[in-house]
This record gives sequence, structure tokens and C-alpha cells, in this order.
Amino acid sequence: MNSNLKYIVTTSRNANSTIRSKARQKANEWSVRYIDRNHISLADTSGDAEAAFVLDHDGFSLSTNKAQLRFTLGTAALRLQSIARGDPDTLIRAGELRAGDQVLDATLGLGRDALVAARAVGSTGGVVGIESSWPLFTLVSEGLASHIPGDESAIIQPLFADSRTFLAEAEKASFDVVVIDPMFAAAKRSDGSFESLRGFADHASLDPDWIRSARRVARRWVVVKTDHAESWFGPEKLKGIHNGGRASWFRAPPSY
Ligand SMILES: C[S@@+](CC[C@H](N)C(=O)[O-])C[C@H]1O[C@@H](n2cnc3c(N)ncnc32)[C@H](O)[C@@H]1O
Repeated sequence: MNSNLKYIVTTSRNANSTIRSKARQKANEWSVRYIDRNHISLADTSGDAEAAFVLDHDGFSLSTNKAQLRFTLGTAALRLQSIARGDPDTLIRAGELRAGDQVLDATLGLGRDALVAARAVGSTGGVVGIESSWPLFTLVSEGLASHIPGDESAIIQPLFADSRTFLAEAEKASFDVVVIDPMFAAAKRSDGSFESLRGFADHASLDPDWIRSARRVARRWVVVKTDHAESWFGPEKLKGIHNGGRASWFRAPPSY
């Protein structure tokens, strides 16, 4: 699938044979080098690799000498609880998400908006989450595969691709809602995981072409989360819907 020499797969120091064998199997599946940890430091195990997928009892983490990133529900857990209480959620409101919808999350990241969308559209709906950073795609796909969402949620289908290309080639009106939440230029998010994510993420910035191809694919709304409005938002029909301090939400109608 990916023969990227920048990464290795290893385990925590005292991993048992089951964990070592699963790590070896994943390394094989991902075409990434497996290196036995042998009780040595992660820095010595990683050598010149940019990052290591480290498997322990809680699953994989993605580690560099500067950061460690693990798949957790994080803020999605709080949002799911609040949805269960009947409280409003900005993504659901902005996309007018409802049962049975097909949602395309064009910037999957840690999968948190996708998890909220999956709950909103329910088991009759679907969510495709696109991530263009291979290490993030791999970490999040593993995390989502081990997460049991319950009967009330749709399955999230992760896809490794650049969503700008995907949207340009997708059939028109093929999703109800397209969500775009690119990296902010400066670190602003409250959640520490996003700080660790920055080093691995694709920092593609929003541009009119991205919005135009999303509007061709969306049947109801293109929902955008960003830290500031651009001068071209008006001409591209993006209107502010919520200003949450750190992040602002905009949406644009379909154009097909
Ligand atoms: C701010 S994060 C998204 C967070 C996500 N909404 C969540 O709730 O976890 C942006 C993510 O989009 C990815 N990304 C950026 N440009 C992309 C593109 N053109 N196609 C697919 N993914 C992209 C980045 O690698 C990063 O993981």
C-alpha cells in the first residue's frame, strides 16, 4: 500500500509476543519496516526514520522525538454526549445533517467531525473521510477500525487521497454535505492532540477552486471551518454561520 521509508513500526518496550506479532503484521500490510524494540529507547529504535508507529495495549501511537499522537475521541466524546442530551452542535446545524445523509469529510484529521457527522446521519447514512497525510490516514484508520460506534452511528470510511483531486473528479451532487476543515496557519485549537497533529498534517490552504469543486459535489451545503474569512468568501457564496472564537464556520450552497 505504501512503501514509505520515512516510517517504522515498532512496539512499546515490554510488549508481549501478541503485540509484537500484530505490529509485524501491520508493518507488512503498510509496507513499512518493522524494527524489534528489544528494550532499547525509541530514539535508538527509530534511527533515521522520521516517525515511528508504536503499538502497545491501547493501540498505535505515532511518535517523533518531538511529539506523540494517539487516536482518541477527544472533543468528539464531549460533542457526542452533548448531542445525546439534545444540545445543538455547530457542524450538524451548519450542514443541516439528518438521518440517511451521505457526508464527505474532505479533511479527516483526527476524525472528530466525522464521528459527530456519523452520529447525526445514523446507521442509514454514510461518512467518507479523506486524509492526504499518509501517517495520519493510517493512524486514524486504525483508531476508527477499533472504535465501536454503536447502532446509532454510520460507518466512517477513511480514504487516503487529496480531497481537492477527489472532489474535482467526483460525480456532481454525489454527497449531501461536504465538510472542509483545513489546518489553521497558526496554532489556535484548544485540544493538545491538534498540536501533535501539526507536524504530520497537510497544510494545504483553502482556495476558491477547492470550494468550487466541493459545491459541485454537495447537494445541500459545503461547510467550512476556518480561523479567518478570506476576501474571496463572498464571491464564492460562503456565508458566516457561527463564530466560535478560535474557529469560525461558514457554508456555501451547491452549484451543480
Ligand atoms: C484541522 S485538521 C481536521 C480536523 C478534523 N476536522 C477533526 O475533526 O479531527 C485538517 C486535516 O486535513 C488534512 N488535509 C489538509 N489538506 C487536505 C487535502 N487537500 N485532502 C485531504 N486531507 C487534507 C490535514 O492533513 C489534517 O489532518
